[in-house]
This record gives sequence, structure tokens and C-alpha cells, in this order.
Amino acid sequence: MGVDIVWEHPSQRASIIIKRVASLLLKCAGLSQKDLSLYLVSDEKITQINKQWLNRPWPTNVISFSQSDDLTSNLLGDIVISLDTARREAEEAGVSLENRLIALIAHGLVHIMGYDHEGSNSDKISFEKKEKELLKAVAQEKIMADLCINVDHVATIRQARGGVEPDPVAAAVLVELAGADGIVVHLREDRRHIQDRDVKLLRQLVQTRLTLEMAATEEMLKIASEIKPDIVTLVPEKREEITTEGGLDVVSLESHIAEAIEFLHKASIPVSLFVDPEQEQIEASKRVGAECIEIHTGRYAEASSPEQEDYEYEQIAEMARIGSDLGLRVHAGHGLNYQNTARLAALPEIVEFSIGHSIISRAVMVGMEQAVKEMLSLVKKGRIV
Ligand code: PXP
Repeated sequence: MGVDIVWEHPSQRASIIIKRVASLLLKCAGLSQKDLSLYLVSDEKITQINKQWLNRPWPTNVISFSQSDDLTSNLLGDIVISLDTARREAEEAGVSLENRLIALIAHGLVHIMGYDHEGSNSDKISFEKKEKELLKAVAQEKIMADLCINVDHVATIRQARGGVEPDPVAAAVLVELAGADGIVVHLREDRRHIQDRDVKLLRQLVQTRLTLEMAATEEMLKIASEIKPDIVTLVPEKREEITTEGGLDVVSLESHIAEAIEFLHKASIPVSLFVDPEQEQIEASKRVGAECIEIHTGRYAEASSPEQEDYEYEQIAEMARIGSDLGLRVHAGHGLNYQNTARLAALPEIVEFSIGHSIISRAVMVGMEQAVKEMLSLVKKGRIV
């Protein structure tokens, strides 16, 4: 399910953006379970297609082919767009190519949905109404996800000598200055990296938003209610693990988690649950009253073959859709790096990434600003070409 793009020379970022926008359009049209193929071609190619199928030997901006008249079928159809014409039209209208492509995909999709503007005046009016509705709905969606950066491992280096440097609080300021959308820290029961002092200072300094990761223990709940982070992510915690190993078992711990959430809500703190990409965990997250889920991406990140990576990617895509359909905000994180994040960034349901180790590791080599900006460019919207 989803959008396939056939595009001869896209930059990686350009195809992420277009895939994400096309998926958002499907979602806004209530068709997120359907398949759509999108072809971005030259004027020459679209002229050939026009000649072959529509008996008009000239280039147009967009042509759509409905795969089936039956909207219950999974295959919606194909949208073919001439990039040459889209680029010219964008220049003439003084809009970005990205915006022009969004408008053309929406136009093609409305045709596929069975509307036609070439018939009677009332057909034209309903077509334009539907097209406007769709574009308005997409404009209200966030096109690209947020990037929140976990600075725990700056503290890991500090704790290696038990001194005062490097300071994760100073690192958080640099992370924000480089453009990240939020700061994440995990206050562990054993205080192996982040300390209570760090969280208190971060609360005062962070200008974007502060996510506190923690176990649902009495001690941590008390700390959270005093610090008041912008959001708490509840994670499972084992003393002997190197990092958080698996997702929270919300199904087995349902009443305990529900009580913790109730406590945090009383302190006006929204709650995210770090869960494996499993439907029963996501449905349980909804039942216990969480606002968000963070999908554990560890199995995807650690896949040992391309086939396993594809399988895990599909699981995440499907679970993100289920979470979003249940009204949960969907975050993702764990093990994400400069190689494996872009693919997930194209999924429209994931609205936030939480990434730590790979960014801090790169910062050691190239500096924090560059490390953050490189990851932002993988996650964020940018110019298409
Ligand atoms: N999300 C959660 C809930 C985590 O526990 C962690 C690890 O602290 C991360 C995201 C970030 O993982 P990584 O450091 O592998 O990017």
C-alpha cells in the first residue's frame, strides 16, 4: 500500500518529499489504504503518452489513468506529470516547484476519484470544489516530521570521568541553535548518563520542547510532575541493558501504565508510549489514554538483510497508519542513523523522530551544528531540485 514513484533523476530528498506529499493527499482523500503510481517524466515522454492514449500530440502538465472504476479496489491508478511543464508553470506563477507538483498530484487524484472538469458547468464546479478541499486539507497537515535529538550520550562521555564536561545542557543549546525541533533525555533509574541536575537545567533552558524519557516508576513519576517536561515518553528499563532494548509491553502492563498516564495527565503532561511495531500494543496504547506512540525502530535499524529491512519497514509503515487512524500522534526512534532515516521520513504518519546516538557520534567528528543539520536535511522538507 502507498505511493510508488517512477522518476528518472530525483535527488533522494526530492523523492522523499514528493512521496510524503502524495501519501498525505491520499490520506486527506480517505484513500490511505490504496496504491498509487506516480510518474515524473519529461515533456517528450508526456507528449508520447498523450499521442498514444489521448490522440493529442502535445505536452500537458498532468494525465491520470484510473486503474479501475471501482474505488473499493486497492489499485487506484497512475498519475503522470511532466516535470518540464511543472517547472515552467512554477516559474511563471512564482511558486516553488514543490507547490506546483502538489497541485498537479491533487488534480490528477481528483480525476482518479471520478471527477471531471471537462463536462458540464456543474461537473467543473464539483471538480474544483473537491480539488480545493484536498489542497486545503494537505496545507493543514505538517509536510515534514520534527526532529528531536537525544543528548544522553554527551552525558555518557561526561560520566566516563565523573567530571563536568562535556555538558549535555550546553549540547542541547547547540542542538537548538542548529535548528532541531526538540531535546530528549532519558533519566535512568541508575543515573548512568543524564543526572537530575541536567533535567532541571534543561527545563529552564530549552526553548523548543523537552521530552523526558523514563520508566513508569514512582520515583520518576514524582520527578516528572515537578519538572514538567513538555511530554513524557514511557519506556521499559532494565538495569543490565546497554540501551532500551524492546518496547513497553502495554498489553501486559495495561492497568499500571494507565495509572501512570492518569498521574501524568493530572500534572498536565502528555504521554507517549515507546512500543514495538505491533498492532496489539498500539491498540492498548490508545486504550490506556496515551496521546502518542513512539514506534521502536530497532528491528528495522538492525536488520541483517535487505529483505528483513523491507519487512520491518513495511511493519512500521502499517503500524504508523494504524496508530494515526486511531488518533494517536506517531513518533519513531531507536537506532536511526544517516543511512536509514530518510526512508522512514517519507511516511506521512510519522510526525516526529527521536534520534540520539548517531547524531552525537557524528558531532564528535564534525561538530554539533553540522551533525544536526545533516540529519535535519534527511528528515525535513527542502527545495525539490
Ligand atoms: N527513543 C527512545 C524511546 C529511546 O530509548 C532511545 C534511546 O535512548 C532513542 C529513541 C534514541 O535511540 P538512538 O540513540 O539509538 O538514536
